[in-house]
Amino acid sequence: MRLFFALWPDSRVRATIAHAAAALPADLSGRRVPPQNYHLTLAFVGEVAATQLAVLQQIGRSQRFSGCTLRFDALEYWRTPKVVVATAQQIPSELLELWTQLCRALTQTQSLRLEPAPPRRVHVTLARKVAQAPVLQAMSPFEWTSQNFSLVRSDTGGAHSVYTVVDTWPLLDETPAR
Ligand code: 2AM
Repeated sequence: MRLFFALWPDSRVRATIAHAAAALPADLSGRRVPPQNYHLTLAFVGEVAATQLAVLQQIGRSQRFSGCTLRFDALEYWRTPKVVVATAQQIPSELLELWTQLCRALTQTQSLRLEPAPPRRVHVTLARKVAQAPVLQAMSPFEWTSQNFSLVRSDTGGAHSVYTVVDTWPLLDETPAR
């Protein structure tokens, strides 16, 4: 199974992202991401044996951080992955900490055989396979307050990937006793 850790929006945030995506040009080439697929990838795990699921759930369960609010403020075209994304210029320290520790836990788990990934900017992908650089308008900023993060399964093969949330853990305001 193909898995990744992500912030998964609730229905209100999903609607807000869809509103921002409405600012994309009508003649955009490529494929718009359907709203049910919006997410913020924290760590891409990739294809793993089903036996590794419990290992990944244990890693998710052992993360303890505060919730955070992200402010997305721009649309960008990224030429190499051929995507249009909504980006946040600032990354809250709570999210950076979660991101860093999650990636560290993944690469330190030898059975997963994951190489450290290059740092990525905070983004939500809004369109894929965009071959031509589009003319992008300014985006009305939107906020995403997140109080949990998820392990998500990705089934590729159709026109759009189908994502299924496998497990979700709360971001807590205080560090509980372990
Ligand atoms: P992105 O759209 O947030 O950039 C699930 O496949 C998610 O994992 C995708 O939405 C993509 O993130 C990210 N992803 C897919 N393949 C990847 C890869 N090889 N390396 C890093 N991230 C990847």
